[in-house]
Amino acid sequence: MGNSKNFGWKLSRYIFNKNFNFNRQNIINVCGEKNIIDAYKKISGWKDYNTTPLIELKKLSDNLKLKNIFYKDESKRFHLKSFKALGGAYAVERVKEGKKNITVSTATAGNHGRSVAWGAQRLGLKCKIFISEYVSDARAEEMRKLGAEIIRVKGNYEKSLEECINQSNKNGWEIVQDVAWENYENVPKLTMGGYSVMIKEISNQTDQYITHIFLQAGVGGMASGAILGVAQYFKRIPKIIIVEPENADCVLQSVDKGSLQKVNIKKESIMGGMSCGEVSLVPWKILKNSVNLCTSISDKNVAKTIAMLKNNYFCEKNIIGGECATPGIISLISVCENQDLKNKISLDENSNVLVIGCEGDADEILYKKLLDDGKKELGI
Ligand SMILES: Cc1ncc(COP(=O)(O)O)c(C=O)c1O
Repeated sequence: MGNSKNFGWKLSRYIFNKNFNFNRQNIINVCGEKNIIDAYKKISGWKDYNTTPLIELKKLSDNLKLKNIFYKDESKRFHLKSFKALGGAYAVERVKEGKKNITVSTATAGNHGRSVAWGAQRLGLKCKIFISEYVSDARAEEMRKLGAEIIRVKGNYEKSLEECINQSNKNGWEIVQDVAWENYENVPKLTMGGYSVMIKEISNQTDQYITHIFLQAGVGGMASGAILGVAQYFKRIPKIIIVEPENADCVLQSVDKGSLQKVNIKKESIMGGMSCGEVSLVPWKILKNSVNLCTSISDKNVAKTIAMLKNNYFCEKNIIGGECATPGIISLISVCENQDLKNKISLDENSNVLVIGCEGDADEILYKKLLDDGKKELGI
């Protein structure tokens, strides 16, 4: 596929934002400039901190006739293999400030809990993690290895969060959650400040102006954290494109209607961390006016893209990208296959595109399976 012009990939749906009105200061004010600056200062001071690579996908940009495609490789984020390492662990550090002997708690689908457990371990705190019956044993074990006590809850993620809140209130534990609800907004703001560190790094890694940025969304924390970073650190504002699984397109539907919409997920996506039915409250304040275009994709090309990243289809480097690392590339390729849409968002030979490779093989067993499936589909 390296030389072919056509991938034949299609978006499931796309909509433009009628309420687009990017306002740097309003965006920064949602979380506070102090929080954004502090996140970089603290995180870049941690032992073992390294900027994650910004890789040029040269073969792909030649193929799609774009100037550059930059891939932020979060598989190298500390030893946690996902951008989530920036959020939960930083929030734990801030929650601990001025307090002694606290116990932190959270509910998680996997990666966020790992970050919280790691943050607690770094500071010698006790950590209780609530997981639903759907979280794999492999993910539970990773969190146990970081010293957390794992509490399995019957039912889905919502049930694990309810149980986390009940037990934490009873026992005086500090909840470190990445999603917001009424009167619980401070910690999610901290996690978003942590995610903005990716953009601070990128602003130091290239002197090219980014013209388009593709951002994955589950509840919208990562996307809005990145947009915070754009508002704070980028001199020019790129076009912002959201990508979600077709069965969990809560940002797309909310942007379309101009108000928060709940999606009843009928089939869970293979992009597990992004299979979310509701946009979180704080991210929504940022997303509603700052994104230009929302797109959704099926699972169809996920395994293939994992195999292409690993087998040098996009550049000379071997890239380990898990299921949630693929959507930016899939959406970009699909947009490029639609000439009318490509024109409408001015994607052309002068474009510098940024995609976020959110995670590596955070779930090694699933990664291996998807890589094998993808290689079979490619016939390699
Ligand atoms: C591993 C992983 N989990 C979750 C998400 C979703 O993040 P959020 O729920 O903050 O939108 C992503 C990326 O979008 C991801 O890569």
